[in-house]
Amino acid sequence: MLIVKRKIERMMPLVKSVKVAKVKEVQKLGKKVITLGDEEILILSLDDGFYAVSNRCTHLNFPLSEGRIEDSVIECPGHRGKFDAKTGKVLSSPPKISLRTHRLKIEGEDIYLQLD
Ligand code: FES
Repeated sequence: MLIVKRKIERMMPLVKSVKVAKVKEVQKLGKKVITLGDEEILILSLDDGFYAVSNRCTHLNFPLSEGRIEDSVIECPGHRGKFDAKTGKVLSSPPKISLRTHRLKIEGEDIYLQLD
């Protein structure tokens, strides 16, 4: 098992992006949650394109996908903290830590998440 894990770790630098969704499905629903490793990622279709942020609130871990998303602002369903959906920055407390953001790229009908 350890040998397999080390082989995968050595191969990871070669993987620069991973297909995470279809353009149409995210446009239709406005959002999609994926899991990559141990992180839930919220992919959003906003007025000027697609964005991806961590799906878990930095306050007490509530799922942001269940909150209200309006005008590029995500309101957490937990305690109504607010984040900028494009930058991940905190707009309103109680959260104090910004959301992790991820870069996306569109290729044809597919959305890819860039791996850093
Ligand atoms: S869990 Fe999100 S504001 Fe408290």
